[in-house]
Amino acid sequence: MAILVTGGAGYIGSHACLELLRGGHDVVVVDNLCNSHEEAVRRVRELAGRDLVFHRADLRDAGAMEAIFRAGAIESVMHFAALKAVGESVEKPLLYWDNNVNGTLILLETMARHGARTLVFSSSCTVYGDPASVPIREDFPLSAVNPYGMTKLTTERILRDLQRADPAWSIALLRYFNPVGADPSGRIGEDPNGIPNNLIPYITQVAVGKLAALTVFGDDYPTRDGTGVRDYLHVNDLVIGHLRALDRLRSRPGLVAYNLGTGEGHSVLEMIHPFERVIGRAIPYRIAPRRPGDVAEAWADPTLAHQELGWRATRGLEEMCTDSWRWQEMNPDGYAGSE
Ligand code: NAD
Ligand code: UD1
Repeated sequence: MAILVTGGAGYIGSHACLELLRGGHDVVVVDNLCNSHEEAVRRVRELAGRDLVFHRADLRDAGAMEAIFRAGAIESVMHFAALKAVGESVEKPLLYWDNNVNGTLILLETMARHGARTLVFSSSCTVYGDPASVPIREDFPLSAVNPYGMTKLTTERILRDLQRADPAWSIALLRYFNPVGADPSGRIGEDPNGIPNNLIPYITQVAVGKLAALTVFGDDYPTRDGTGVRDYLHVNDLVIGHLRALDRLRSRPGLVAYNLGTGEGHSVLEMIHPFERVIGRAIPYRIAPRRPGDVAEAWADPTLAHQELGWRATRGLEEMCTDSWRWQEMNPDGYAGSE
């Protein structure tokens, strides 16, 4: 029996595929490559020394999804495929609703037809909106401040309704905080399109000389140094959380929601310094006004995932920075450089 990984050519999905293959699982990937390259899949195969099945298809293509489920004995799904750029979601809300929500509906309908009712879903800490306090627990109120966040929140809601209607479904909602880093091989990593929106890819592109200087969005937040505080976690810790969640669903069916974060917040300035140590030189930066929609602080209380999954992030900031930097240095143009 195989595990279907939607979005398996993407940043987190490719790391999940590698971990699954290394754990002896059979893996089928579906990805339309709208934000990724097939080269990532090739490298996952090479690193694992094992094959996986790759389908280039869109989740919204019901016929293609049906054919994928007919072709392989798919037992469970890790569902990473989504569009994730907040700014773009504000400009193109219909695209985000169609891709993220409609795509998920078609996936769920296909799963139901084939009796595959175990799903691990990529949710996000964005579902907590602007939290009233930190650390954030799973029982905090949920809200969304942009269309991307709304698609995640809505999908969570759909999955709750589905599991309530049919308890044969087993579903884990994994709310990621800020995934960073890369596999230590330097062969797979995050490959953003154009100028990165997120902090760490921006810093590594400054470090490699592709961008001149980092813009720090706001130094007047009520935080210890005035810059925004987030919970950065290594992508390999994150994907291990997915395997633990799948194990839990198999042994105890139901619907569960977990924060996946380290439980520690770091400011923007606190992220620049370990990078400077890793690369051995200064990262130029300038302070600019706050980015609209940003919250001052968001970091997880990961106690529940520890208690129920036995999961805890083990990789520290230095390792996150070293691995992000190795990926960037070895692949200055991302996957495009090798195609
Ligand atoms: P990514 O863009 O690298 O990966 C997503 C993959 O899904 C891409 O390969 C893309 O081509 C594919 N895809 C998108 N729509 C598709 C569709 N309709 N059909 C088939 N394939 C499709 O993003 P990522 O960082 O790996 O994120 C994975 C998941 O985790 C997403 O659901 C994202 O919302 C969620 N998430 C990411 C972060 C983060 O900071 N990276 C944080 C919280 C949650
Ligand atoms: C972003 C997304 C959020 C998603 C989360 C996890 C936005 C507005 N939000 O959040 O929906 O759930 O990623 O992937 O995109 N920063 C700078 N300069 C930069 C980039 C970022 O100072 O060039 C700061 C930000 O203001 C923030 C911190 O760095 O304080 C982290 O930013 P980012 O990496 O974009 O992640 P989030 O804002 O947490």
